[in-house]
Amino acid sequence: MNDLTEARPIKASLRVPGDKAISHRAALLAVLAEGRTTIRSFSPAGDCEATLRVLRALGVRHGRDGEDLWVEGVGGEWRGAHPPEGHIDCGRSGTTMRLAAGLLAAAPGTSVLTGHPQLLRRPMERVAEPLRSMGADVRSEGGGGTAPLTITGGPLRGIRYRLPVASAQVKSAVLFAGIQADGTTSVIETIPTRDHSERMLSAMGAGVRVTTVDGGAEIALERSALRPLELLVPGDFSSAAPLIAAAALLRGSDLSVRGVGLNPTRTGLLRVLGRMGGDFIAETAGSHPEPWGEVRVRHQPLAATAVRPEEVPSLIDELPLVGVLATQAGGTTEVRGAAELRLKESDRIGGLVEGLRALGAEAEALEDGFVVTGPTPLRGGRCDALDDHRLAMAFAVAALVASSRVEVKGMGFVGDSFPGFIESLEALR
Ligand code: S3P
Repeated sequence: MNDLTEARPIKASLRVPGDKAISHRAALLAVLAEGRTTIRSFSPAGDCEATLRVLRALGVRHGRDGEDLWVEGVGGEWRGAHPPEGHIDCGRSGTTMRLAAGLLAAAPGTSVLTGHPQLLRRPMERVAEPLRSMGADVRSEGGGGTAPLTITGGPLRGIRYRLPVASAQVKSAVLFAGIQADGTTSVIETIPTRDHSERMLSAMGAGVRVTTVDGGAEIALERSALRPLELLVPGDFSSAAPLIAAAALLRGSDLSVRGVGLNPTRTGLLRVLGRMGGDFIAETAGSHPEPWGEVRVRHQPLAATAVRPEEVPSLIDELPLVGVLATQAGGTTEVRGAAELRLKESDRIGGLVEGLRALGAEAEALEDGFVVTGPTPLRGGRCDALDDHRLAMAFAVAALVASSRVEVKGMGFVGDSFPGFIESLEALR
C-alpha cells in the first residue's frame, strides 16, 4: 500500500531502465547467433529474469556485468546447448513464454514452459497453432489452450501466416521459428504491431522483407545465420509512460525523459496525448536499430479523445494510463478495439474501470474497451491492481491527482516491468 497524494509538480530530467520488449528479444535471439552478444542496459524487469531462465535451462552461457548482459550464442545448429533440465518457469511473463515457444520449436529435445498461475490462465494456442503448422510438436497442456506448453523441437518448414489477432508476441514467435525453418516464413498483419523483432533480425544479418498487402504488411524472412549483436537498449517507453502521464496531469510540471525508445510502433500514447491537447516534444537522437531520444512534457489542461482500434497495438500497455488521463480531461474519452486488454496479466478493462470508479471517476467498461468522462476530481480510496504491474502504475498516477489517501493493492508486482518505479516517482516529488 502506498500513499502518493499531496503531489507537487514534477520537475526533473531522468532516464528509465532499458526496454523490456527489446531485452527479451535480444537475449533470445542471441542464443541463435554464432558468438558473443553484448546487450547494454538490459532491462532489470522481473519478466526479463524469466527470459534468462530459458537460457539457463538450455545451458546457454550468459552473465551480467552491471546493467549489461552477455550471451554466448550456440548458433542455429544449437551446438553445445542441451535439452532443458526440468520445466522452464516463465513467471508472469507472456512475452517470455510466447517468444521462447518460437525459439524452442527447433531446439533439441522437449521443453516444458510453465509459470505463475496468472500466466497459466492466458491463451497460448495463438502461438501453438502456427508453430504446429510449421512442423513443431507443440501441446498446450492446460485446459482451453493454456500453458504449460510442451514443445518438442524438430525440423521446421516456412509458412505464410495471417495474424488472427494483432499481437507482436505471436508475430515474433512465428519469426523466431521462421529464422530456423526451411523456405520462406511470412507473417501478414493488418494492424501494425511493435516491430522490434524485425528490426533486430535485420541488424543480426537476416534478410527481412516488408511489403504492403491488402492494406496491411507482410514480413517475410528466410532461414539465416545470425551475427551477434552489440546492442544498447533504449529506455523503456512503457516505463516512461506513467511518469509522462503524471507530468501531463500535475500543474506546473516539466519533465524530460532522456535516452528513451521512440519506436513509433510503441509511442501511440504520445499521439493520443497530442490529440488531448498535451504539451510535449519528442526528439529522436538516433535510430539504429531502434529509434531513441528525449521526451519533454509539461502540464496542460486536457480534452477527451477517441482511441481507434488501429492505433491500439501502439499503446496497448499504456491504455490504463489513458483511462487515468481521461478522468482529468474535459469530455468523454472512448477506447475501442482493445478486447486484448482482457487477456493480459489481469482483465485490464474490468480492473481499470473498477479502480477508477473507486476513486470517484465516471468510467464504464465496454466489451472491447472503456469510456471515461471528465474532468472529475478524484478522491481517496482503495484500488485493486489485481497483481498486474500496468494497473498498479496507472493507479499510482491516479493517486497523485486524488484529494486524499489512495491505497493500491498489488503494488508489489510493478517489478515485473519497472523495479524501482515507486522510488522513482517518490524521488520526483
Ligand atoms: C509485447 C506485445 C504486447 C504487449 C506486451 C509485450 C511484446 O502483447 O502487451 O506487454 O513484447 O511483443 P501482445 O503481443 O499479446 O499484444
